[in-house]
Amino acid sequence: MPALDDMAESRLEALDKQGLWRMPITTSPLEGMWVERGGRKLLSFSSNDYLGLSRQPDVLAAAQIALHLYGAGAGASRYVTGENPLYAELEQQLCGMKQTEATCVFSSGYMATLGGVCALMGKGDLILADKLCHACMVDAAQLSGAKFIRFAHNDMQHLEQLLTKHREQYQHCLILSETVFSMDGDCAPLEAISELAKAHDAWVLSDDAHGLGVVESYPVDIQIGTLSKAAGSLGGYVCASRAVIDLIKNTARNAIYTTALPPATLAASLAALRIMVAQSDLGAKALGYAQQFSHAVGLADAQSAIVPLIIGEAEAALQASQTLAEAGYLVSAIRPPTVPQGTARLRFTFSALHTEEEVDALITEVRRHGWH
Ligand SMILES: Cc1ncc(COP(=O)(O)O)c(C=O)c1O
Repeated sequence: MPALDDMAESRLEALDKQGLWRMPITTSPLEGMWVERGGRKLLSFSSNDYLGLSRQPDVLAAAQIALHLYGAGAGASRYVTGENPLYAELEQQLCGMKQTEATCVFSSGYMATLGGVCALMGKGDLILADKLCHACMVDAAQLSGAKFIRFAHNDMQHLEQLLTKHREQYQHCLILSETVFSMDGDCAPLEAISELAKAHDAWVLSDDAHGLGVVESYPVDIQIGTLSKAAGSLGGYVCASRAVIDLIKNTARNAIYTTALPPATLAASLAALRIMVAQSDLGAKALGYAQQFSHAVGLADAQSAIVPLIIGEAEAALQASQTLAEAGYLVSAIRPPTVPQGTARLRFTFSALHTEEEVDALITEVRRHGWH
C-alpha cells in the first residue's frame, strides 16, 4: 500500500520539521524518584506520581493479593462477569473522599471524561470549557454533539458573557474546567464558576486529575479524576449524585462495551487512596517542594505540584530538557499541540519522594541557565 505509506511518511516529515516528532521515553524506576534511562541514572522531575504511591509496599501487597485471588484480567465487562467486590469498595472510598452519593469507575481518566460528558450532554445542549482544558475534555465535548465554545483561561468575565449570550438557546448547559491545570499547575476559580453556573441554570464539571491528594478541590456538580497520578495506579472516576451516576452507568458506552479493569489495578488504587487519606502530609510535601522551587527560581508561586517554565519554541524547550538531562535530571519538554504555539515549556513536577537536598540541587542547576 504505497499510497498509504506515502501519506503517513509525508505527514510525519511535517511533524518532524516542526520539532513535534514524539518519542516514548523508556525509563526503569530506581530508588526514590531516580530512574535509569539509556544507561544513565537521572533524577526525575517529570512523574505524576506525586505521592510516590505507585511502588509503596502496602499498595504492591494489595495488588499482589488481588492478582492471585481474581487473576490477571477481569475476563469481561462489568455488566457481564468482570465485576468483583473491589469495584464497590473503590467507588465507596471515592464517594467518601469526594463527599458524593455515588461514583462510577472507568478504565482511565480519559475514559471517565468521555463517558461522563457524553452520557449527560447531547445535541441541543451547550458546553463551555476553559481554553486550557485537557484534550480529553475537548474530545468529550466534540463527541457529545453539544454546541462547544471555549472561554479564556480562568476568565470569569468571558464565561459570564458567553453564558449571557448563548445559554438561553440551549436546553442544558455544562461548564468544564480543571481543579489544577495539567500543563500550567494553576487552579480554577471553581467557587466563582459554580456561582455563575447557578445564576445561569448551568452545571459544572471539574477534572481533578492533578489535584487529588495534593490540593483540596471545591465540590462542583460532577467531579472527575484519574487514579493514574497521585494514586499511582490506573483508572478514572466520576463522582456525583446517585441519579447522575446511575444514568452514566446505564448509558456510557465506554463503561458498558469494554472489559473491566484488572483486579490488581483496582486493589492498588484502593490501597493508595486509603494511604492518601491517612497521610495527608504526603501531598503537603509535594506542594511544599513545588513552592520552594518556584520561589527560588523566580516563577509565579506554585499552586500545585506542577511548575511550568515557559521557554517558547519547541526546539528550544527540547534543548533545555537535553541540557538538564546532561546535568542528571529528567524534565520533559512539553510542546504544541499539548500547549499553545510559542509556549513550549519545561514542566517540573514534585513528589513526596523527592528530598530537600534534591530540590535544592535542581534549583541551583536551573538558576545557572537563566531560562526565564
Ligand atoms: C487533566 C487531565 N485529565 C485527564 C487525564 C487522563 O487521565 P488518564 O491518564 O487516567 O487517562 C490527564 C492525563 O493523563 C490529565 O492531565
